Amino acid sequence: MKEYKLIGPITQLVSLEKSNHKGSIKDEDLMIIKEAGILIKGDKIDTIGAFSDLKNEINPSQTELIALSSKYTCIPGFIDCHTHICFSGSRARDYAMRNSGKSYLEIAKTGGGIWDTVTQTRSAKQEQLTEGVVQRANSLLKNGITTVEVKSGYGLSIEEELKMLRAIQNANNTTKADLISTCLAAHILPKDFNGNHIAYLEEISNSLFPILKSEKLTNRIDAFVEQSAFLASDIYPYFKKAKAMNFDITVHADQFTPGGSEVAIKTGAISADHLEASTQNEIDMLAKSDVISVALPGASIGLGCDFTPARKILNAGGALAIASDWNPGSAPMGDLLMQACILGTFEKLSNAELLAGITSRAAAALNLTDRGRLVPGMLADFNLFQTDHFNEIFYHQGKLTPSQVWKKGDLVYQ
Ligand code: NIG
Ligand code: FE
Repeated sequence: MKEYKLIGPITQLVSLEKSNHKGSIKDEDLMIIKEAGILIKGDKIDTIGAFSDLKNEINPSQTELIALSSKYTCIPGFIDCHTHICFSGSRARDYAMRNSGKSYLEIAKTGGGIWDTVTQTRSAKQEQLTEGVVQRANSLLKNGITTVEVKSGYGLSIEEELKMLRAIQNANNTTKADLISTCLAAHILPKDFNGNHIAYLEEISNSLFPILKSEKLTNRIDAFVEQSAFLASDIYPYFKKAKAMNFDITVHADQFTPGGSEVAIKTGAISADHLEASTQNEIDMLAKSDVISVALPGASIGLGCDFTPARKILNAGGALAIASDWNPGSAPMGDLLMQACILGTFEKLSNAELLAGITSRAAAALNLTDRGRLVPGMLADFNLFQTDHFNEIFYHQGKLTPSQVWKKGDLVYQ
């Protein structure tokens, strides 16, 4: 096998050039290279430039030439920085009940809601969960998503959370997408826990956190801060322990009521996700902080709620990533590009803001500095779409899918 691969000519290569995470971006701010080539060494981008120049510079005995014969637009591999794709069962009944006007509490009372998925996920074997994650991650990969964050949070006991996180770890060894796991043991207080919210969080932090570290199951801790889940006052000491053990923090924040974003800011979280209920006060606080705001349009579509105020967040100078929140309850669609495009039309986002939201800014939401842009040194994760202009990708609102998906320098789907 040769040491280098040169791919091209690519009609249009488009990426954010700098790691610019905050504020509005115009399409003119994008790096666009026409008739481009990508020189790959191992799993990384070695050089990006004009294909004709690169072709003259390479050593043919060391380089495999991959010639493209059609018009292609190349953009970075997408990053879905918030999903719950480790689960068992369906919540189709919740969806029908919601649409017939039943409230969240009424649905929970008849056996629906998050607890329903906890029951179904607990009764699945670890291998079955692994299979489900691999299947969903592979379907994302076909749509150009080369990195997927995956949360636990449907186990809600030490053993069951471990089962989920081990299933995610095993799935990561099988799928070609990179899976980034997160512990969401603080999703809701499990019905069968003998104690209050504080006692539950103490048990998780004292008994589960050390195993997460020793088995290298995750370096990220998430919590659902909401009146129906965990109060901010419960979560501060929990996150303090997590930080002391060097976990990264992320928060399900301001989904139905404001409050979680302040917890995210005060604890130095990497991201605050949801934010559908954020007011100008939260938006301004987020914009002043280093916390990445993550919009989850799939949850708004699934629940019939307002979208995250993405335009206001960007206008205030905040950082905006976009993720699918794929889960069996509020966001069963699992189509990042389509959801980002829908958010774009309602929130008036530029194509550059959409692209950044699912590439470079999504990488920042996962604290990853090795991906999300097409520049030398980054992982060679990219998508080729059969079109000569990147506008077409967003204009088709998710219906134009990649013709080729490249992950770590290899063609993984075409
Ligand atoms: O991000 N908001 C809390 N958790 C998930 C929903 C999980 C579920 O309904 O199963 C979310 O939307
Ligand atoms: Fe979520």
